[in-house]
Amino acid sequence: TGAFTYDPGFTSTASCESKITFIDGDQGILLYRGYPIEQLAEHGDFLETCYLLLYGELPTANQKEDFVYRVTRHTMVHDQMTRFFNGFRRDAHPMAIMVASVGALSAFYHDSTDISDETQRMIAQIRMIAKMPTLAAMAYKYSIGQPFVYPDNSLDYTSNFLKMCFAVPCEEYKVNPVLSRALDRIFILHADHEQNASTSTVRLAGSSGANPFACIAAGIACLWGPAHGGANEAALKMLAEIGTPENVGKYVARAKDKNDPFRLMGFGHRVYKNYDPRARIMQRTTHEVLNELGIKDDPLLDVALELEQIALKDEYFIEKKLYPNIDFYSGITLKAMGFPTSMFTVLFALARTVGWIAQWMEMIEDPSQKIGRPRQLYVGPTRRDYMPIGQRN
Ligand code: CMC
Repeated sequence: TGAFTYDPGFTSTASCESKITFIDGDQGILLYRGYPIEQLAEHGDFLETCYLLLYGELPTANQKEDFVYRVTRHTMVHDQMTRFFNGFRRDAHPMAIMVASVGALSAFYHDSTDISDETQRMIAQIRMIAKMPTLAAMAYKYSIGQPFVYPDNSLDYTSNFLKMCFAVPCEEYKVNPVLSRALDRIFILHADHEQNASTSTVRLAGSSGANPFACIAAGIACLWGPAHGGANEAALKMLAEIGTPENVGKYVARAKDKNDPFRLMGFGHRVYKNYDPRARIMQRTTHEVLNELGIKDDPLLDVALELEQIALKDEYFIEKKLYPNIDFYSGITLKAMGFPTSMFTVLFALARTVGWIAQWMEMIEDPSQKIGRPRQLYVGPTRRDYMPIGQRN
């Protein structure tokens, strides 16, 4: 009943008005609050980008200092969280730990769950941006059986994260500034992407009035899937499976075969029908990181470059406008930095948290906001009567 527009996958539904991120998929343009992603990645840093996404303008020097101070002050998590972590199996996927631990923040920080209180909302957003690196590093340390490393608030946001992941007891750890800058840039690239599946999930969860920690946990759950944030992990596994550039042709043929469910991971995008601008920056970052680490020949990079070259010249991919997306090169870079594949989507979640929060705030502060409640086209049985069990066949 009812006349609804049927739009599976919401390919032509605008679910909200937003002033945060603009994408022109045909031209391959991505702007945060009007600023091109290329300029932010080149000249900005991640916390400045967070400020921009949250408040709409790039910060002045004083505003930035104050913002960095507030984020830095909130990097610790309650010590009881360590017991929560200890309840997981040792081999738990870190994304499972993230879904649970970020959701659990609502049970630890009651004083920032009242969404009708502006101050509480502000504290919640700072807490979330500040604590995500700590939780992500804890998830990693737990998975490899090493003790947690406490935040070092003398370091910048990304260097502190690297230290929490890679420092080990009784050994001095020095952050490599080139790697830290590269990872910071990767965070900028992932910070927001308008109404993608996980952001829409956060908005939908938030539209019921759920607290922000619970909403972000919902976003993390959605991001995990291989069609979304999980593609970086899937892309690296695929490159490893292809193994050598000579095998690329076989896999490209499989991706084109209608009867084979195989897809090239890290290729294609719902919105970009041109080269994903983030993928270009990511490709440069990959080279920079491999150079810094003295990795002259990475077989995965050789496979990736060959695959990209072949696919971009192939009629199937040209006709369907399938180009590399951000996830195509990010795995190679993160692996070279020392992250295991299971952490890739966690890093995506860490960086996307600010986008989720900015979008959540925009929704909460929008006077026309209503609970999200899609309709359906019902195609099930018409009315029928209950039959006692003995009379059913
Ligand atoms: N390899 C081979 N064929 C593909 C691919 C691919 N990676 N992506 C799309 N196609 C084909 C698909 O088979 C379909 O063909 P046809 O029209 O003949 O049925 C056509 O292109 C359109 O695909 P679609 O699935 O209808 O498009 P969509 O907008 O629903 O899906 C996508 C977008 C990103 C889910 C899809 O391109 C895909 O599965 N890519 C691989 C996974 C991936 O890299 N995801 C990361 C996306 S970017 C980061 C993020 O969002 O987190």
